[in-house]
Amino acid sequence: MSGFVEKPEPEQVPGLEHLHSGKVRDLYRNSAGDLVMVASDRMSAYDWVLPTEIPDKGRVLTQLSLWWFSRLEDLVPNHVLSAEVPEGAPPAWAGRTLVCRSLEMVPVECVARGYLTGSGLTEYEQSRTVCGLALPEGLVDGSELPAPLFTPATKAAVGDHDENVPYEEVARRVGAETAAELRQLTLAVYGRGREIARERGIVLADTKFEFGFSGEELVLADEVLTPDSSRFWPADQWEPGHAQPSFDKQFVRDWLTSPESGWDRRSEQPPPELPARIVEQTRAKYVEAYERLTGMSWT
Ligand SMILES: Nc1ncnc2c1ncn2[C@@H]1O[C@H](COP(=O)(O)OP(=O)(O)O)[C@@H](O)[C@H]1O
Ligand SMILES: [Mg+2]
Repeated sequence: MSGFVEKPEPEQVPGLEHLHSGKVRDLYRNSAGDLVMVASDRMSAYDWVLPTEIPDKGRVLTQLSLWWFSRLEDLVPNHVLSAEVPEGAPPAWAGRTLVCRSLEMVPVECVARGYLTGSGLTEYEQSRTVCGLALPEGLVDGSELPAPLFTPATKAAVGDHDENVPYEEVARRVGAETAAELRQLTLAVYGRGREIARERGIVLADTKFEFGFSGEELVLADEVLTPDSSRFWPADQWEPGHAQPSFDKQFVRDWLTSPESGWDRRSEQPPPELPARIVEQTRAKYVEAYERLTGMSWT
């Protein structure tokens, strides 16, 4: 079982047409035909969108994405038009809303990995490959890869796992030229992100980008280099050989799998509400990621 514990109701805003509610974002179209992307405080874990929100999470994700977009502009154009809240929208949208170019999205999750963990580790343990790419012997959970890899995946509907696909499959789906451009852009943006994060004591283990076409041009879309789209590890605690402490969801995952939650991941039951303590610790982690990366204080 998976999905939304409680499906959110979209806001009714004059002049905006509700298009879609993703795990975290609600999408609307404005009268100019642009996309209005509103990041909620929803949190997902273990394939569920939890019934409890993390205050400010959507704002942190939005502000962090904006900060990164401006640091990546020389590498790739992005979809942001403005951060203005549309007239008539609820005040709560402030800081979490981006007006974006509506793009023809490329149906590929563009993942870059500099370290081995997660689904990459699972594949490596079975076949010594990640997305079909051969890797040396002896790597363990958290090992740095000899060089960053482009490990694309196909996007799953809410609740399903994204599926890693070989590069050749991406080329078949989107064409050889686009596939090559996706790989080049993904690795370039990852490289920049990793360098900046490293200076701030954070290992950017892996991350996921989404691109879309504006005419013939590939544009960086969605969110970028946030704790939701990336694995950030505190550099001073990085130690290959076991799961690394994750920056954001660790408290939630640990609590959900603890006896205190009373929840069984493998059951048909939806996960319970999070206690206030876990909400506060998780909020603090998102804020810490923002503050460490940007060097600015969250107020
Ligand atoms: N510029 C854009 N044009 C069209 N769609 C976009 C754009 N940027 C992001 N998206 C889409 O908006 C959605 C963002 O909502 P989100 O809650 O993150 O969804 P998901 O549950 O798929 O992660 C994603 O489906 C993403 O592909
Ligand atoms: Mg998303």
